[in-house]
Amino acid sequence: MRLVFFGPPGGGKGTQAQRVSKDAKAAHIATGDLLREAKAKGTPAGKKAAEYMDRGALVPDEVVNAVLRERLSQPDAKDGYLLDGYPRTVAQAASLEKLLAEMKVPPEKYVFISVPEKLIEERILLRRSCKKCGRVYNLKYNPPPKPDRCECGGELFQRPDDSAEKLRTRLDAYKRDTLPVIERLEKEGKLSVIEAGASGLDEVEALVRGALGLPLASKKK
Ligand code: AP5
Repeated sequence: MRLVFFGPPGGGKGTQAQRVSKDAKAAHIATGDLLREAKAKGTPAGKKAAEYMDRGALVPDEVVNAVLRERLSQPDAKDGYLLDGYPRTVAQAASLEKLLAEMKVPPEKYVFISVPEKLIEERILLRRSCKKCGRVYNLKYNPPPKPDRCECGGELFQRPDDSAEKLRTRLDAYKRDTLPVIERLEKEGKLSVIEAGASGLDEVEALVRGALGLPLASKKK
């Protein structure tokens, strides 16, 4: 499938993408992950991205567009993709539309995971990610086997942009730059909206699977 997931920071896009991408036969492409990888490798794009990510601001479109274009050209994305965290600005949406039309692989579905702002801080501040496999936990809602260890044995860490102060900057960018993209898709009747505020991870997964026409997950995560 060819999918685009939207939602506020900490809304659960990455968690749900990890859960459904295999069944959707879609390569999970998260621009946040791509930029963090570039940053860790110290590439020119990574160094530029770090200036913005470290304060919770959006990375300039030309940097993200180049990273995304490169990733979408890889073989595993040919049969399907799940974009997570892109597009995030009206200009990125236009650039994506053009790129995917050129590649003849337009999105089939847009999914918006909607979560009220008051629930987001706790999710962000208690998030832990695995250095080894990338799995995402929450110390309260989706706890790891040990507070600092993943199921795979990898060490857990807290993202440097997951502070209350940086979250405010990220939420401002989301409202100013990303909501207009979401509102346009909704007006055009292209958006599946998942109300994910009060629901746990498994319930949200069931709603996402329903919206995508995928069978329900057979085993507990
Ligand atoms: P990115 O990594 O994309 O961050 P984000 O959009 O802020 O989203 P998150 O990864 O924080 O949240 P998520 O929705 O994936 O939530 P998750 O599933 O982890 O981007 C980081 C930065 O990179 C940006 O600030 C920007 O600088 C840059 N960037 C990236 N893309 C860009 C672009 N296109 N243009 C410009 N700059 C870009 O869940 C969060 C927590 O909640 C977890 O702990 C999870 O376990 C928990 N949780 C999930 N679902 C539930 C539930 N139903 N109930 C309870 N807890 C839940």
